[in-house]
Amino acid sequence: MDKEILYLIEKLESEKTLTLREYERLISGRDEESAKILAEKAVNVRKQIYGNSVFVRGLIEFSNICKNDCLYCGIRRSNLNCDRYRLTTDEILECCADGYSLGFRTFVLQSGEDGYFTDGILCEIIEKIKSKYPDCAVTLSLGEKSRESYQRLFDAGADRYLLRHETADSEHYKSLHPPEMSFEHRMKCLSDLREIGYQVGCGFMVGSPHQTAKHLAKDLKFVEEFKPDMCGIGPFVPHKDTPFGKMTGGTAELTCYLLSIIRLIRPNILLPSTTALGTIDPLGREKGILAGANVVMPNLSPVSVRKKYELYDNKICTGEESAQCRSCLDMRMSSIGYEIVTDRGDIKKENENGCL
Ligand code: 5AD
Ligand code: FES
Repeated sequence: MDKEILYLIEKLESEKTLTLREYERLISGRDEESAKILAEKAVNVRKQIYGNSVFVRGLIEFSNICKNDCLYCGIRRSNLNCDRYRLTTDEILECCADGYSLGFRTFVLQSGEDGYFTDGILCEIIEKIKSKYPDCAVTLSLGEKSRESYQRLFDAGADRYLLRHETADSEHYKSLHPPEMSFEHRMKCLSDLREIGYQVGCGFMVGSPHQTAKHLAKDLKFVEEFKPDMCGIGPFVPHKDTPFGKMTGGTAELTCYLLSIIRLIRPNILLPSTTALGTIDPLGREKGILAGANVVMPNLSPVSVRKKYELYDNKICTGEESAQCRSCLDMRMSSIGYEIVTDRGDIKKENENGCL
């Protein structure tokens, strides 16, 4: 390994910041040895804060109807092969009931940008979940909305919001999205969410079309400056019915390398080892945890709709019941010395350990 890379890793560990050029160098100059050193440091830092606990989130994909047309995404509006569905409020509540009995204490409500679910309907769903399960956190992942809508959902009891920024480079953002979507609006949404008081998650795909190490360096800088509570990163996986269907996907190797870097930038961050990572590598989720991630997000959606929420090809866990995924993940985590805990899994703040 290049001496300069070792120097950058040590600098990142002690200062939790690098310049854009340094991040770029750390990415493009990586090799097996540097990945190993980074992962060791990331795991150490994470262990000091979270021990060997892995937090679990129950993902409920309640509608795959979307008004957007993101070029990478399998549920984009132009994909006429996508079989569309919406869950009813009762079906969503059933998913929560199953999840609760399996030890989930965070429910992530995710959907396409589906106008049917007005603020009123969403608030009712959130209020019902929070009154039935006051010890649970509700996380929303519903895309871009007005500040007023975000505020109403927050007032109804939502705790967290996930909105991946997708890429921190506005030109790159343009190349992944239709003209009516803008990087500026994405950023506005993220800052509104933060100001309202949500715990906020951003995130990006690794190996998305046209992405370079320079773009990734900007993503890392963004994470450093925005200081999200959560950051979802996973490999880009092509979906056959999208304009990017024939493009090359991202790798587990680079995804894990970036997970380690993000852990060192923000020691306390909640960092999922994603389903996309488990899709491109049978041991992807284990590798993500061993690179510094500390969250897994299995699916709680009814098996009858799982295949339809196909953001990318070959998504795993579309045939398994929630209980099967839960015990599968228990086994996978214990096989590498970790344990899934029954806990809301909030971020540990600075005053608890002086780390943020
Ligand atoms: N490959 C990997 N991730 C994808 N997402 C959407 N489409 C794909 C794909 N083809 C991710 C986006 C989005 C999240 C819900 O899923 O980053 O924000
Ligand atoms: Fe779903 Fe393993 S996590 S089957």
